[in-house]
Amino acid sequence: MGKIIDGRSLAQKLNSRLGREVKKFPKAWPKPTLAVVLVGNHEASEVYVRQKAKACSAVGIKSVVRLLPSSTSEKKLLRLIDRLNRSKHINGILVQLPLPKQIDPKKVIGHISPDKDVDGFHPNNMGRLFGSNDPNPLLPCTPLGIMALLNSTRVKISGKHAVVVGRSHIVGRPIAELLLQADATVTICHSRTKNLKKHIHHGDIVVAAVGKPHMVKGRWLKKGAIAIDVGISRLGNKRLVGDIDFKTAKKRCSFITPVPGGVGPMTIAMLLANTIKAYKIQKGI
Ligand code: GUN
Repeated sequence: MGKIIDGRSLAQKLNSRLGREVKKFPKAWPKPTLAVVLVGNHEASEVYVRQKAKACSAVGIKSVVRLLPSSTSEKKLLRLIDRLNRSKHINGILVQLPLPKQIDPKKVIGHISPDKDVDGFHPNNMGRLFGSNDPNPLLPCTPLGIMALLNSTRVKISGKHAVVVGRSHIVGRPIAELLLQADATVTICHSRTKNLKKHIHHGDIVVAAVGKPHMVKGRWLKKGAIAIDVGISRLGNKRLVGDIDFKTAKKRCSFITPVPGGVGPMTIAMLLANTIKAYKIQKGI
């Protein structure tokens, strides 16, 4: 039977550490401040934005939430980002995705000042992840959270075969790179992959990030694998489930993350960590 990796408790530990760090900043300095921009009323995004703002206040980060109607033009959003980029009171900027279809997310992400890009999605920060030897880049939050969850198991990653299911720029590609940097052998699978089951069956570590409820069945997994579930979907009965069929997978895994309570809380904790990192970069400390 697999052990559950408790993302809530790991996130709480990290948040407490961040809260202590914030308290140590000089009293005369303004609080680290995160601007969260939400365009439209995507139901899940509204929940995520509320969770992010609540998490900020718990560790002493100020959050400024900007809610814009779904009819907002790209130009108007870019002008808001210009103002946030220029504001010396704002240390981090997060534009919640997805955006309404009249707005090009690539343009928006590329417009955020790289040193305020707490999502780590700006091409400069992506480049730092994949290319250079930058010792302290702003990296995407979900992949950072996944690495912390894996490290919490104390299982050595080096030499393990990691199978990443999903090739998004937010999760699949950056987590594959971080796993590679940790010396795993990495396979990336996606919607066109042939014989997905066979690939997954070779994974010592399986990261599922596709957003298809219960797509990965327990019997597909190698016995003793570590299963990390990034998916979060709401079933007809309102129940939240992941991409991995938790009940059957738990019987085959050594470790597994639950949904909810696995990757989600760690993504938010890493957003707080990135906001503090951005603050320190801007203060030159
Ligand atoms: N929508 C879903 N996940 C994310 C994320 O990590 N950052 C942003 N900005 N939007 C998202």
